[in-house]
Amino acid sequence: MAEFSLPANSKIGKGKAHPAADGATNTRTFKVYRWNPDDGQNPRMDTYEVDMDECGPMVLDALGYIKNIIDPTLTYRRSCREGVCGSCSMNMNGVNGLACTTAIEDCKGTISITPLPHMEVIKDLVPDFKHFYAQYASIKPWMQTETPTPTGKERLQSKEEREKIDGYYECILCACCSTSCPSYWWNGDKYLGPAILLQAYRWLADSRDENTGERLDALEDPFRLYRCHTIMNCANACPKGLNPAKAIAEIKKMMLERQV
Ligand code: SF4
Ligand code: SF4
Ligand code: FES
Repeated sequence: MAEFSLPANSKIGKGKAHPAADGATNTRTFKVYRWNPDDGQNPRMDTYEVDMDECGPMVLDALGYIKNIIDPTLTYRRSCREGVCGSCSMNMNGVNGLACTTAIEDCKGTISITPLPHMEVIKDLVPDFKHFYAQYASIKPWMQTETPTPTGKERLQSKEEREKIDGYYECILCACCSTSCPSYWWNGDKYLGPAILLQAYRWLADSRDENTGERLDALEDPFRLYRCHTIMNCANACPKGLNPAKAIAEIKKMMLERQV
């Protein structure tokens, strides 16, 4: 019978406990994934007691408190701290999201924080986005045109044409959707996943782009596009309220329409 178990060097080891500061009475407990590629140790979940009277309201504030006050060795990504850059995507209490827009008071009990699922980890909460960005580059995410600009200056769109990219241009490439998609977990080497397919549709839907045929040709593949089985985790996971599954359905519709 097949046995399923983590390799010995992946098993989560006993973590370190960091108690609350002396005199702190209003605390929350955070369990944070720790792994350092340089120390040869297994990953572990460290526990931190955060003094909420000294900490801001968001999960990212708690990570900042931990790093600045308790344990400077903690590594995580962040930049804008307002849901715009996509850097602070991680898994909080089992749900992918942005640490900077997730309120601590909305997280129940001990708050468990791990890197985005099914991505290689560089260190602690920092996943490796190399493959994700290579997939993004593969869809040529820029406007492609053949004809000269009609006005000699810029390519205009009507209000209606512009509205067709609403719900798609807002994507911040945080990968919360792709890393919550079971199809992407199992076939992420070949399946582009919801984030990249939403981006692909953003250019297919743009009236100014003139390479629709080539873009569809590049997606016409049993893995790149058709591994989406409409499980819809992606739409639930998106912190910007976007619906990648809808974008994928639109691409499949375009594939069908060009055959008739
Ligand atoms: S709808 Fe498609 S892309 Fe979204 S989670 Fe499901 S399989 Fe993945
Ligand atoms: S669609 Fe949403 S979840 Fe997916 S990468 Fe874009 S912003 Fe992030
Ligand atoms: S820090 Fe930029 S999205 Fe969270």
